[in-house]
Amino acid sequence: MRLSSVLFFASLALGTALNQDSADLSAREASPELVPRACSANGCKCVKGLAQGVYCGNCVVGAGTYAISAKRVANHAYECNSSGGCCDYGKASDCGTKNARCKNGSPV
Ligand SMILES: *[C@@H]1O[C@H](CO)[C@@H](O)[C@H](O)[C@H]1NC(C)=O
Repeated sequence: MRLSSVLFFASLALGTALNQDSADLSAREASPELVPRACSANGCKCVKGLAQGVYCGNCVVGAGTYAISAKRVANHAYECNSSGGCCDYGKASDCGTKNARCKNGSPV
């Protein structure tokens, strides 16, 4: 009885800690800054008018148009902003696959 309530509260505390971690992560992901973590403005360009966010090199936004319009590498992740600003995060394991992150549009 005593042991099971200890375990109960321990798992409760663990669950709370895990929830806090994911809340912190999503707060960082939702940051409006173009440079929330190291990325390089290497001359890449994004299609104008996209929602700001992360787009993999293989993301297509309508009518077969890639989100990245210059210096596109299929397995790199990019941060795009609404005015076509682009920043290259480099290789990301999901990019170039059908599970690639695309803030808008979809991977090809
Ligand atoms: C988009 O990114 C470019 C390049 O970093 C920057 O010059 C521009 O001010 C940004 N525009 C917006 C609306 O954030």
